[in-house]
Amino acid sequence: MLQELTKSPQNILIITDANIDIDVMVDAVRKSVINCGRIDTLFFGPEDKEDFPDLQLNIEKNGPEDIKEVPEEAFELIKDADVLFIHFCPVSSKLLDAAEHLKLIMTNRGGVEHINVEAATAKNIPVVNCIRNADAVTEFVIAMMIDLTRDITLSHDLLHQGKWKRKYYNSSFQKTLGNSKVGLIGMGNIGVLLAKKLLALGVHVIAYDEFVSKEALDKKGLQDVEYTEDLDYLLGESDIVSLHLRYLKATENWFRIEHFRKMRKDAYFINSARGGLLNYDDLRTALKEGLIAGAALDVLDKEPMDPDDPLLKMENVLITSHLAGTTVDSIELSPYIVARDVDTIIRDDICDRVVNYRKLQGV
Ligand SMILES: NC(=O)c1ccc[n+]([C@@H]2O[C@H](COP(=O)([O-])OP(=O)(O)OC[C@H]3O[C@@H](n4cnc5c(N)ncnc54)[C@H](O)[C@@H]3O)[C@@H](O)[C@H]2O)c1
Repeated sequence: MLQELTKSPQNILIITDANIDIDVMVDAVRKSVINCGRIDTLFFGPEDKEDFPDLQLNIEKNGPEDIKEVPEEAFELIKDADVLFIHFCPVSSKLLDAAEHLKLIMTNRGGVEHINVEAATAKNIPVVNCIRNADAVTEFVIAMMIDLTRDITLSHDLLHQGKWKRKYYNSSFQKTLGNSKVGLIGMGNIGVLLAKKLLALGVHVIAYDEFVSKEALDKKGLQDVEYTEDLDYLLGESDIVSLHLRYLKATENWFRIEHFRKMRKDAYFINSARGGLLNYDDLRTALKEGLIAGAALDVLDKEPMDPDDPLLKMENVLITSHLAGTTVDSIELSPYIVARDVDTIIRDDICDRVVNYRKLQGV
């Protein structure tokens, strides 16, 4: 797919915003296998990064069609462009209508709410996104696993209150991570990367994903993972259960009290994915009734969370304010990630990151 981009020089239109340095976008595309001809650059939105979140929220909620801030020159320059490389600039059907021979849209974001993917598909244009913070999230989740099970933050907080304590609620069943079984639910970008890192730490990983086969995991180098199609087995067997589904209509309120009942009383639960995947009232009940040993949460049912939430009073609950994916490098260097993904598509014909691949194939 897209091999033609390596042959003759291609016109590239790059539209950045306050979050990403234009030089990095230009350098990333130049270092890719795309044969770069003319490169035009534009800027979208407010100059100050601090002013960007309102615009971002508007695009995430309302899509790309009616966003006024798109620079007028974009409608001119797109006529000649072969490749459009954006961060958050909206790609509306109107912008796409002006394109005369566009062959690729690449964005250095995971979400594609800013792109009219349907209109791109209708014009046979692949849209490539990137998973820029999988490393950040997986490191954070491993940190949560160790912190929660080994009482690091708990001990730290007590020391701040002048209390030197050596025995904790979980001291009698405390295990090293390397001798634990970790059950991962959802083996997408984050599940796969997390499994690799956990295997390197000697962890026994059990993996469950309704839509990913054992063969697919084997191909990703996860032969040492214990694959299961039986969610109850994963829940009953794991010392730590970690949720990595995407939040969709079908996965809303997905993890509930019946799942906690199938977990061991000395097992922990982690949610770093999305608040809507989990019934938090059921989690509060599970913790109150001692159905599980504890929980670590980076995402919540209500963000920012209610300061009176009972979860904040529980010593066996570790909570952070939706931080797992936010390291500076994961955003600033993201143009290189999507450029590398485009290289993989062109060189190896691996099209995981082509958002509209199935539709383009007519599947
Ligand atoms: N906390 C943060 O800062 C942060 C940052 C980035 C991503 N995330 C979240 O992490 C989660 C995972 O991200 P990802 O990039 O790996 O997503 P992904 O789409 O690559 O993977 C999701 C996986 O869930 C599987 N799945 C879907 N429905 C299922 C079901 N009913 N049963 C079992 N498996 C099912 C899919 O087959 C897929 O493999 C997402 O919810 C994402 O929003 C959180």
